[in-house]
Amino acid sequence: MEIALTKSTIRDWRVGDAPSLVRHANNRKIWINLRDAFPHPYATRDAEQWINTASSASPVTDFAIEVERAVGGAIGLRLREDVFRHSAEIGYWLGEEYWGRGVVTEAVAAMTEYAFSTFGLLRVYAGVFAWNPASMRCLEKAGYQLEGVMRKGAIKDGLTVDEYVYAIVR
Ligand SMILES: CC(C)(COP(=O)(O)OP(=O)(O)OC[C@H]1O[C@@H](n2cnc3c(N)ncnc32)[C@H](O)[C@@H]1OP(=O)(O)O)[C@@H](O)C(=O)NCCC(=O)NCCS
Repeated sequence: MEIALTKSTIRDWRVGDAPSLVRHANNRKIWINLRDAFPHPYATRDAEQWINTASSASPVTDFAIEVERAVGGAIGLRLREDVFRHSAEIGYWLGEEYWGRGVVTEAVAAMTEYAFSTFGLLRVYAGVFAWNPASMRCLEKAGYQLEGVMRKGAIKDGLTVDEYVYAIVR
């Protein structure tokens, strides 16, 4: 899979992506906004494991965001099951040196379109920690709407935090 955008390319993970992945992912400012499954510190072995898992999944739902010819971040979908099978959760992060250029807004819009067209979904949603207005802004700019706030919905770094749920439906 490869989607060429104006600010980045969304594509499958490749074995050679590990060094660039580690360089960008090993950042507390990224970890603080993601699930605890995202390692910190982020080592080469974590990157290799991630690339291996993501590439061997069926269907593939996790992709690299390539910026300036190297991996600069990641974007993916968690397809829901059973009575929720028309939904997916979207997740993403970008290396700090690329923040504020509109890269993720464009990638989220493209990935959302991909989710609808490839998997026949009706709903894509994201949960954002209350302290992350930049991510909320990306979602809003990509057409998502705030549906509600899960008060004290998550615990991160020892703190309870409200989770803002954004979604787009078709
Ligand atoms: C959040 C993140 C994905 C944003 O990526 P990005 O490519 O910098 O985002 P964009 O440039 O497309 O858009 C960011 C928007 O947020 C705005 N923004 C940035 N910091 C902000 C703040 N503190 N308060 C309000 N808005 C803010 C920017 O101004 C921009 O909006 P604008 O275009 O209207 O000016 C990136 O910072 C990141 O990877 N953070 C760590 C991981 C993470 O949070 N992942 C998402 C988990 S839900």
